Amino acid sequence: MKAKIIGTGYELPVYEADNQYLSTLVETSDEWIRERTGIGKRRLAKEETTTSLATGAAKKALLKANVKAEEIELLIVATITSDTETPSTACRVQAELGAVHAVAFDINAACSGFLYAIHIAESFIRSGIYKKALLIGAETLSKLVDWTDRGTCVLFGDGAGAAVLAASEDGGVLAQSVGSNGEKWDVLSCMGRAINNPVHKGEKELGYLKMNGQDVFKFAVRTVPMCIEDALLKADVKAEEIDLFLLHQANQRIIQSVAKRLKQPEEKFPMNIERCANTSAASLPILLAQMEEEGRLHRGEKLVLSGFGAGLTWGACVLEW
Ligand code: UT7
Repeated sequence: MKAKIIGTGYELPVYEADNQYLSTLVETSDEWIRERTGIGKRRLAKEETTTSLATGAAKKALLKANVKAEEIELLIVATITSDTETPSTACRVQAELGAVHAVAFDINAACSGFLYAIHIAESFIRSGIYKKALLIGAETLSKLVDWTDRGTCVLFGDGAGAAVLAASEDGGVLAQSVGSNGEKWDVLSCMGRAINNPVHKGEKELGYLKMNGQDVFKFAVRTVPMCIEDALLKADVKAEEIDLFLLHQANQRIIQSVAKRLKQPEEKFPMNIERCANTSAASLPILLAQMEEEGRLHRGEKLVLSGFGAGLTWGACVLEW
């Protein structure tokens, strides 16, 4: 049995901040941000939360898939910005949806989170344990960003995307290639609460996102083509046979470089980075849902999804839509 995406949805915060607005906060410019990243604007949460964005995206995906919340057996939220340390965002979304029969939990794999969620759910579906899963990537990165650091604050945005994965005889996930390298954990990190208890007084201040941008850039342009090639090999599909490559939207130049390394035309690599920026685990499902909404995905077409980010983590998946 294969695992097939049968419906997608996305939800973005209402407030839109363009590059011009950011240039009032830090020393930067629309020209620099567009040239180095391809980003023009991003949505920032005001009243919205990770839970509300995730719930909104999930409702649309369920509607599109024509699946009732009670039918969902597995509910995974990929996020690094849960509203609550505990319970998980997944449990709160479960309550909002009334997905009473689902086992619900979060996973933390940063920008590769949605790929990791597919990796987990596909195994459950292929083995016959579950037939329907709801996968969500949801983030409010804006609360982890240091808004005085121009090297990171211009890059990120908030949002959520969701997909319903169901057991199917035809189509669906053909192969995956997923990996992690914890030795490079400090290339992109955000410290959590310090130890602070009756026997040890730690730091009081909470951490913000810290990144060595160039190291992440180099990692991405080397590793992403390698893991895509590995997934293609496992699927016995050639790059030329792939209709679309949907990559994590971190930087337009990274995506262009991957296209070049795979010797594939840039037109096969759709982007929404100009309007959504980098929404971490939400970026792939948002892109996927926007593509479906725009009627740009057709049944039978072959797609590659690929994500990469903090951990370091990465993953690629070949699927038939
Ligand atoms: O989901 C994964 C998350 N992260 C990523 O994917 C990030 C991957 N890395 C990148 O996208 C790029 O490395 C960045 C966009 C972060 C930076 O681009 P870059 O071409 O690697 O620039 P750089 O870090 O080498 O900085 C070049 C210059 C520096 O000034 P000097 O030293 O040459 O005077 C920076 O201080 O640009 C400066 N700079 C800025 N200038 C205006 C850095 N950020 C900004 C800014 N506006 N926002």
